[in-house]
Amino acid sequence: MKTKNVWYCGSCGHKQSRWTGQCAGCNEWNTLQEEVETTSSQADTRRIPISKEGASKPIRLHEISALDTPRLKTEMKEVDRLLGGGIVDGALTLIGGDPGIGKSTLSLEIANNLAAQGHTVLYVSGEESLEQTSMRAKRVNCHSENLFFVSEIEVGQILHHVEKLRPRCLIIDSIQIVYKAELASSPGSVSQVREAASTFMQLAKSLNIATFLIGHVTKSGEIAGPRVLEHLVDTVLYFEGDKHNNLRLLRAIKNRFGPTDEVIVFQMTATGLKEVTNPSQIFLEEREKSSIGSVVTCALEGTRPILVEVQSLVTETYYEMPSRRSQGIDTNRVALLIAVLEKRSRLQLYKYDVFVSIAGGLRLHEPASDLGILMAMVSSYSNRSFDPGTLCVGEVGLGGEIRAVSRIESRVKEAIQMGFTRCLVPKRCAKSLEQSDFAKSIEIVPVEWVDQAIKHIL
Ligand code: TYD
Ligand code: MG
Repeated sequence: MKTKNVWYCGSCGHKQSRWTGQCAGCNEWNTLQEEVETTSSQADTRRIPISKEGASKPIRLHEISALDTPRLKTEMKEVDRLLGGGIVDGALTLIGGDPGIGKSTLSLEIANNLAAQGHTVLYVSGEESLEQTSMRAKRVNCHSENLFFVSEIEVGQILHHVEKLRPRCLIIDSIQIVYKAELASSPGSVSQVREAASTFMQLAKSLNIATFLIGHVTKSGEIAGPRVLEHLVDTVLYFEGDKHNNLRLLRAIKNRFGPTDEVIVFQMTATGLKEVTNPSQIFLEEREKSSIGSVVTCALEGTRPILVEVQSLVTETYYEMPSRRSQGIDTNRVALLIAVLEKRSRLQLYKYDVFVSIAGGLRLHEPASDLGILMAMVSSYSNRSFDPGTLCVGEVGLGGEIRAVSRIESRVKEAIQMGFTRCLVPKRCAKSLEQSDFAKSIEIVPVEWVDQAIKHIL
């Protein structure tokens, strides 16, 4: 058996044969770590020791469609929806997120719900002792007979337990802490994480075990050895949300069995994570109606419209360089909207510091929230409050024009449901809305230019 030294990038998983300061794969600095690789044929150690009989068989396409994939229901309505109707047997799912955000709690709740339906579930807890896990289980009220725990970090041992128990669902908490004894590199290194994950993938597929891998996120927001893992697994779910707030978002980044970019909302309570079925209500909960600099817009997360409050503070600057800060929205987008206001509407924002924040910890990615952000800034700049019953939706172009947005109907419907009475929408979207039956329940105000929209405040 020969060994050689290789260097792996801790950020993107790129492998190279010598050390360099910068990774050739992702251009990050100081991310390369040295690992020892054995180069003899290791095929046997990579194979899982299970009988191959009946494991796979070629099948005709039309025969496949006849087999409807059965799904395990987590009995959490939103989680099932996020997964595309439940957990597929043998699917490998990665749950990523910052430490302490709720990955273990959610996995435990899913495990408990599956076990309560009579499925055997094995929870491998490498990070915490069994006592710690048991304390958490008590808090979230887990007491099913079919839920088994083991504190183990060696992959071979875990496979042994799985072989014996034959669970329907396996949870590995976390993938960074488990290691394969055959590999020389240390636990948590890129090659360990990748090898361990691919072993669990083979296990999931060959024994048809729905498997959840829990993964930590590094400072830059990626799971260690991330891209390798994302390719490998069927589904990637990321926890988002800020820790000072009890709202958590779970987003499907990749999903081979369901919709991607779908989001569900949880609230962290004293007894675990609770699903939020009406996020708009939660995000608008703390809103002070008719406060200056506050405007409500509608963000689309996956297929779900969520109403959020955009807050802005525009104050005179005492420095040469005015400050532009934002939370929950790209600062460059804010800078662009400021430039539009300066050039097209002649607001002298260069004399002012501008702060924009999205209440509730949501991050807005869509340009459809441009108009809401812009109006919040104008409201604070002019020191006038905006009508609290009005929603603003629209993309702002560089010429100061307001551009059409997607799925305007579902956004307006959500506004009606939340009791809004007026909606500023792009002119091009207004036509389709006027023909719809729900248009009578809300006043639709078509706007074509930023100036037109601003008149509604000034
Ligand atoms: P946890 O699931 O351990 O996070 P992760 O596995 O992602 O690191 O969640 C830990 C946090 O959640 C911790 O700060 C305590 C809090 N928490 C509650 O508020 N309520 C609960 O019922 C539980 C179990 C945890
Ligand atoms: Mg944990």
